[in-house]
Amino acid sequence: MNTTIPKLGLGTFGRTGEDGLTALLSAIEIGYRHIDTAQSYGTEENVGRAIARSGLARDAFFVTTKVADTNLAKGDFMPSVEKSLETLALDHVDLLLIHWPSAKDAVPFEDYMEALAEAKARGFARNIGVSNFPIGHLKRAEALLGKGVLATDQVEIHPFLQSPKLRDHARGIGMPLTAYMPLAKGRVSNDPLLSEIATRHGVTAAAVALAFLMEEGHIVIPASSNAGRLRENYASLSVNLSADDMTAIRGLDRGMRLIDPDKAPDWDDAA
Ligand SMILES: NC(=O)c1ccc[n+]([C@@H]2O[C@H](COP(=O)([O-])OP(=O)(O)OC[C@H]3O[C@@H](n4cnc5c(N)ncnc54)[C@H](OP(=O)(O)O)[C@@H]3O)[C@@H](O)[C@H]2O)c1
Repeated sequence: MNTTIPKLGLGTFGRTGEDGLTALLSAIEIGYRHIDTAQSYGTEENVGRAIARSGLARDAFFVTTKVADTNLAKGDFMPSVEKSLETLALDHVDLLLIHWPSAKDAVPFEDYMEALAEAKARGFARNIGVSNFPIGHLKRAEALLGKGVLATDQVEIHPFLQSPKLRDHARGIGMPLTAYMPLAKGRVSNDPLLSEIATRHGVTAAAVALAFLMEEGHIVIPASSNAGRLRENYASLSVNLSADDMTAIRGLDRGMRLIDPDKAPDWDDAA
């Protein structure tokens, strides 16, 4: 049973169909064991198929899924989790997240946070956490469920959006953040500083971005459908950045948020 979240995982957003399955199988072959899916991605079935086809034991994997914001109401929450498990063909996930807090508390906060804890108590999830929660929501969750209950907050973080206030809050409560969109959708590859550091370390700018985020204490879940790029990203696990490299990359933060839909909470994580 996995209780800590592997530092590097595989994102699956938009990676559906046979191409998505092929990418998953390549990633597993390269060594990825932590896989990130969600009810809204349409990739849960492929994740289950890839795990079954890998020939590896279930416990070799760390699987995360997320309850969609359309399934947060009391009567919808637990059936949606059961449906996810059925689609994944698994009897539990390793991590279950609230994908987005309910906009303007349309569903009472207590209802879905207590349902999340209940899903863990029923054995549907080994760990529970949240996604797209600003600091204020994390404090509300801690007041309701207690300290140390949430395993992570999965949020947009990359070298151009480092969210220092949220990073420091998470460190203060001993909870790692999971950096989604850690490559800023591939934009990190065009950055001159990341490219210069990458040349010195003999890796790609993407691997440097991932190594930086992991060194900051975050978990990263980059996505790719290309075996070469999956391998480049995996190589980030063996990059050792110097203190000077870290300082220089911290300087790239420019609060560049790429995901900010109408349903998003008020972000309180800028510098
Ligand atoms: N919780 C949430 O609300 C939320 C929101 C967004 C994302 N996520 C999760 O985070 C995961 C990652 O985010 P993301 O997929 O949107 O963005 P990302 O991982 O930052 O970037 C993926 C993009 O970068 C390209 N890429 C990958 N590796 C590369 C490399 N080594 N060099 C150059 N380009 C590279 C990919 O193209 P190729 O396929 O062509 O390589 C793809 O276009 C998602 O899959 C999902 O699981 C969660």
